[in-house]
Amino acid sequence: MQIPVPNLLSIMRPNPVESDYKITTIEGNLPRDLNGVLYRNAPNQRVLPDGGPGALHLFDGDGYISAITFLDGVAHVRSRYAATPSFLFEKNENAFCLGTLGAEADVTVKNVPPNYQANTNVVFHAGRLWAMQETMPPFFMDPRTLESKGMWDYNGQMLGSASSAHPKIDPLTGQMIQCGYQPQAPNFQLYVIEGDGEVSLAENVPVPWASKFHEVAITENFVVIPVGAVDIDSGQLNERDPLAGLKALRARPDLNLQFGIKARIAGSTVRWFETPSSHYIFHTGNAFEKNGKIYMDACTFVDMEGMIENLKCLRSGYADIRSGSFLYRYEFDLDKGTCIATQLSDLLAELPRIDDRRLGYESNFGYASVGKPGAGTFRGLIKYTMQGEILAEQSYVDDQFISEPVFVPRSQDAAEDDGYILALRYDAQADRSGLDILDAREIDGEPVARLWFDERTPFSVHGSWVDAPQLENLGGC
Ligand SMILES: [Fe+2]
Repeated sequence: MQIPVPNLLSIMRPNPVESDYKITTIEGNLPRDLNGVLYRNAPNQRVLPDGGPGALHLFDGDGYISAITFLDGVAHVRSRYAATPSFLFEKNENAFCLGTLGAEADVTVKNVPPNYQANTNVVFHAGRLWAMQETMPPFFMDPRTLESKGMWDYNGQMLGSASSAHPKIDPLTGQMIQCGYQPQAPNFQLYVIEGDGEVSLAENVPVPWASKFHEVAITENFVVIPVGAVDIDSGQLNERDPLAGLKALRARPDLNLQFGIKARIAGSTVRWFETPSSHYIFHTGNAFEKNGKIYMDACTFVDMEGMIENLKCLRSGYADIRSGSFLYRYEFDLDKGTCIATQLSDLLAELPRIDDRRLGYESNFGYASVGKPGAGTFRGLIKYTMQGEILAEQSYVDDQFISEPVFVPRSQDAAEDDGYILALRYDAQADRSGLDILDAREIDGEPVARLWFDERTPFSVHGSWVDAPQLENLGGC
């Protein structure tokens, strides 16, 4: 059942302005030990369809990268479009001519390229800034200038048509573990990119059905591959359309959530662990090995029909009241071959993040965005333990939205919990956007600082932090 949600349309409304400015509207004090860049990616459709922004799907919009730089107590914003070949084509035509998930092209133009909207996440690795969306290859940008560089084909080793927006970077080895999926066989690919940018593993991995593989989790030795209870209706596929897999997505209440666990070694076999429930996972928090088991926390959708319906209706200002995801812990016994799934909380939670210095290794704390039934998430933040204890909650009033909580350590040798939470904020009443900086040890307290941008940016779902020294050491891009 769909219900109207106030301000849900305005939060995602495009604003095609590429900007450069120092942030001057600041409440509180910018911490002087916060030095680096918060990169964010948001769908920001430059050429709108005749039906207006409400005709777009939740996932539609040209990739729009913002770099919010902090240096010695001063903050600066730079925003640029990810100028993919399709972005440049549509810009040149100055007409909505490519078509998206939600809207057909308004005009017919010959020889249109595949629509690559690099609009979901942005990550720094091996000196390169990756702008990503899961129906296309990665797109590189300069991490300092945000100049567009071009598509990447995994040094000629790309196996499928696309790779995910959520690569995982092992903080100890520097390896990036990346997956990809496509509607046609072979459905799923796995890659390892070394810290110097070389591709050391590229292989097709057999999966039980053609699902939507949003991301994998990693541990020190394994990759965990969630296979959720949705599949792709092959009867609706169009090979020329990179978005066809998402258009043909359907709920499968008759299938149960499964996990493939595979060693991070080329050619290793996959062991499958089945849960008793028809669930789906977009985002995992962390996973790690301990005493012969793998523990993983993830936000889990429990109503497949509601989830699929929500993806279709959110951008139009409505939400499906059946949809929602909850914090779960998964315990895999590698000796017995069993998986125990435990719901940790009845709060609606999504966009889980951890201290990325612990990714794949034992950790204690997680942070997530929380919400209300029928109103989406993004209404508050929580801090939780891997045992499921909710340690703190920051609630926002109804006309305020808050995005993914990105953890930034106070220093590279700071304790796991010693740092800041950075989360984008949208004030629907004033129609302005900004950034909250919270003390990670007191996320329910007053923000350390609240910054307001001169230009409203469409709501951004994902992004990442890069410490200043990593950028200083760049040898060229
Ligand atoms: Fe995501």
